[in-house]
Amino acid sequence: RLSRSLSISSLSGLPLWKEERLPVQDLLLFEVSWEVTNKVGGIYTVIQTKAKITADEWGENYIMMGPYYEHNFKTQVEKCEPPNPAIKAAMDSLINNGSQVHFGRWLIEGNPYVILFDIGASAWNLDRWKGDLWKVCNIGLPYHDREANDSLIFGSLVAWFFKELTDQLQDKQNIIAHFHEWQAGTGLLLSRSQKIPLATVFTTHATLLGRYLCAGNADFYNNLDKFNIDREAGERQIYHRYCLERTAVHCAHVFTTVSQITAVEANHMVHRQPDVVTPNGLNVRKFSAMHEFQNLHSLNKAKIQEFVRGHFYGHLDFNLEKTLFFFTAGRYEFSNKGADLLLESLSRLNYLLRVHKSDVTVVVFFIMPAKTNNFNVESLKGQAVRKQLWDTAQFVKEKFGKRLYESLLRGEIPDMSKILDRDDFTIMKRAIFATQRNSLPPVTTHNMLDDSTDPILSNIRRIGLFNGRNDRVKIVFHPEFLSSTSPLLPMDYEEFVRGCHLGVFPSYYEPWGYTPGECTVMGIPSVTTNLSGFGCFMEEHVSDPSEYGIYIVDRRFRSAEGSCNQLTQFMFSFCQQSRRQRIIQRNRTERLSDLLDWRYLGRTQGFRYPRPSSVPPSPSASLHSTPHHSDEEDDDSYDEEEEAERDRQNIKAPFTLGEMEKGK
Ligand code: UDP
Ligand code: G6P
Ligand code: GLC
Repeated sequence: RLSRSLSISSLSGLPLWKEERLPVQDLLLFEVSWEVTNKVGGIYTVIQTKAKITADEWGENYIMMGPYYEHNFKTQVEKCEPPNPAIKAAMDSLINNGSQVHFGRWLIEGNPYVILFDIGASAWNLDRWKGDLWKVCNIGLPYHDREANDSLIFGSLVAWFFKELTDQLQDKQNIIAHFHEWQAGTGLLLSRSQKIPLATVFTTHATLLGRYLCAGNADFYNNLDKFNIDREAGERQIYHRYCLERTAVHCAHVFTTVSQITAVEANHMVHRQPDVVTPNGLNVRKFSAMHEFQNLHSLNKAKIQEFVRGHFYGHLDFNLEKTLFFFTAGRYEFSNKGADLLLESLSRLNYLLRVHKSDVTVVVFFIMPAKTNNFNVESLKGQAVRKQLWDTAQFVKEKFGKRLYESLLRGEIPDMSKILDRDDFTIMKRAIFATQRNSLPPVTTHNMLDDSTDPILSNIRRIGLFNGRNDRVKIVFHPEFLSSTSPLLPMDYEEFVRGCHLGVFPSYYEPWGYTPGECTVMGIPSVTTNLSGFGCFMEEHVSDPSEYGIYIVDRRFRSAEGSCNQLTQFMFSFCQQSRRQRIIQRNRTERLSDLLDWRYLGRTQGFRYPRPSSVPPSPSASLHSTPHHSDEEDDDSYDEEEEAERDRQNIKAPFTLGEMEKGK
């Protein structure tokens, strides 16, 4: 197998290694990132999902490195002793010199070893390490930039560890160290400047300048070659960070990025063309019964419906059976993630649904963490009211049941109008009265710290989508990542995605973009763009992505107005699909999963999924021209598995994953 022995001929500048190929047992593979056991965004997903397949290949020789946070360690890591004596000795050396280093197994699939460095405990070295950094590469860090300072402490500890480790190993085992993003890159540049014998890989998941320029509304992609990057970095007060990033990029033996679009960006923003593009994958779990993921959709949708019942209490004048759940999610970068475009398109969608007198309601969730001060009272009250109504209904039902039972035992059919007494009605009336409210259902679930300046809230105010009774589009902004322990919406992110109908991610700046990929493997259609790594990957490998429930908004060659109209149209057409069409489409979406599986990703070059077989009715081809077409809505005679199997057979025709494995 390709990965059993590594060809290192492509890792330039390694005079120590004469052999062309080394067996894996003679190598140690380290993966270094700020997001090891520490969730911030998509880099965590890269590392966490890749762990199993890497650990399967590399076994005990695969070790991750990240920052130590007590809470993360306690909840995610099982402490143990390092089995490799050289690693233990290197750690001890740091510990004996006043640093704190922790070792254990990360409790995720694959159970990789992790070495975590306590940044705070080593902060007393900061000034000295700043001096060292200045000496080797003339980069000075301002005292107020916490992230850059943390990156230096982390990097210094990592380089120090590698120094001790290579001294211990004395060439008995060679080391490959893979660093992710600029925060970890400092470790790379310090290791290289000390000439520590490592083969280094640096992966960028975005460039600092790309992210900043796009967030600042620059016409980025049309001016890639025109920016004076040093000046731009200086004006944004990130010159030192940008220097750290660019130095790491140029010190790495192998430089990679996660998509072609970011490769082009990197060439302009850090002046190095990546050696390899390594698209991001997922650890795809297949269910033995293929309808299983459809059942999970139903199950989780029911949970979201429960939340909506509470949140919109007193305003539940829309039919939940005809309500679609859309969502967007990710780190809160308002324009980079396309939340601006989405809000504008939602306002147009609302208008279209209203003028067409559609009976469809769309509830749109924004899951983007912002600064908050807990849940707001109104949202909590909503769930309490719902719970109270439920309890009242159960109470009355019990009483009703008992009386009915007793009556039947006596051989009588009771007088239904008398089976409940005055008290029961009083209880029910009081419960209904409690559902009255003077205000509209809130657009956000939390108390926002920057309420008046928050970009999502400001735009909601501008477009007036306040969850009014006549609005067909309702908004719920949940400014915190989801958690199954939440008192409000007790679901984890995966369950939530499964329960929704459509993920909408109209990003402007998105080197990869995990969120639509995660939707795909769960069989949930999504919207992405041709400026996201994922969207471009899908365009390359799927003949007609929209047939598979991947809608790609053109943000590259159209005006903002044009993209907005296109997104509106995608969402409006989606609202016109019948339940049956949605089921077919989910089956198709799910079939693209293999393309995103880490196991096959490296071998997808040149592969292209054909259009799905023309089995009637193709969801988009059979769309009705008006939104009033609920005739097929509850067509239970439809055999989704049969349909899916037919499509699967057809997709097998041009290529199969078996062929992929053979590398055809
Ligand atoms: N995510 C999460 N919980 C949530 C919402 C999002 O864990 O409530 C995760 C999601 O699964 C995804 C990541 O956040 O893996 C966002 O990654 P992406 O690559 O889309 O964007 P990034 O934030 O890295 O720019
Ligand atoms: C899944 C379930 C079906 C259910 C459907 C609802 O396919 O297996 O039993 O009817 O979801 O789909 P919808 O798109 O209306 O949420
Ligand atoms: C970055 C990018 C995101 C990508 C992730 C993982 O955070 O913003 O697009 O998916 O890294 O590579």
